Amino acid sequence: LSESYSRSARVYDLIYGDEHTARIKDYAAEAKELDAIIRARNPSARTLLDVACGTGVHLALLRGRYSVEGADLSPQMLAVAARRLPGVPLHQADMRSLALGRTYDVVTCLFSSIGYVTDADDLVTAIGRLAQHLSAGGVLIIDGWVRPDAWQDGYRADPESGSDGVTDVVRLAATRREGQITTLDMHHLVRTAAGIEHVAERHVMRLVPTSEHVAAFEAAGLRTEVLPQSMPGRDRIVGLRPR
Ligand SMILES: C[S@@+](CC[C@H](N)C(=O)[O-])C[C@H]1O[C@@H](n2cnc3c(N)ncnc32)[C@H](O)[C@@H]1O
Repeated sequence: LSESYSRSARVYDLIYGDEHTARIKDYAAEAKELDAIIRARNPSARTLLDVACGTGVHLALLRGRYSVEGADLSPQMLAVAARRLPGVPLHQADMRSLALGRTYDVVTCLFSSIGYVTDADDLVTAIGRLAQHLSAGGVLIIDGWVRPDAWQDGYRADPESGSDGVTDVVRLAATRREGQITTLDMHHLVRTAAGIEHVAERHVMRLVPTSEHVAAFEAAGLRTEVLPQSMPGRDRIVGLRPR
């Protein structure tokens, strides 16, 4: 099994969707929702950093409205983002030690990426790092992984697939939970003109109670609210750095 996203980065958008096509995710609708949340809390927000930006689809949709930058741990995901976002600064960084040396009016960490921080102390550190990058009046938005009470043991998702006419992908996932830790083995069959490749990755994520996220936001000095996410069983935590 390969490291998360190292080999699946090139088919990520075919599975999840992009700025033009909604698949598992409707990124365009999400970007509108995020923009409304930001404007209601900081109407003059101009700069935005998306941490764990992945292939950069949210950034592509928000760059018209904000001056955007991205950061991600995975060089392969950043390579896809760089092709999508010419001229946008992209940083290879771990959110647990993020130190970009400047602040932003908005910091986001979307689509469950925070779940990859599987240690409780690291979670407090990571949220502290994100909050440190907020300017006065800045807004932090974190979309959490599945809430512990919403996880369904034994759930067997249907096979997922996508195609752009050049690359076809089919994915099957096997998931399990031990305590707070969920392990997702993702097996992809990727067909191109060169043939069919099998890409298998293991993703390990922690189910974090919303109260633990809220406590970390508050410890970082943010005024905190919890909103629903469009994906069921997941919460969105929104924090505001007081002026
Ligand atoms: C589910 S993807 C989400 C990508 C993107 N935000 C989206 O909405 O499509 C999770 C992302 O988190 C990144 N990631 C995982 N652990 C990370 C860490 N410690 N620091 C920064 N990025 C991380 C992965 O490389 C991957 O791109």
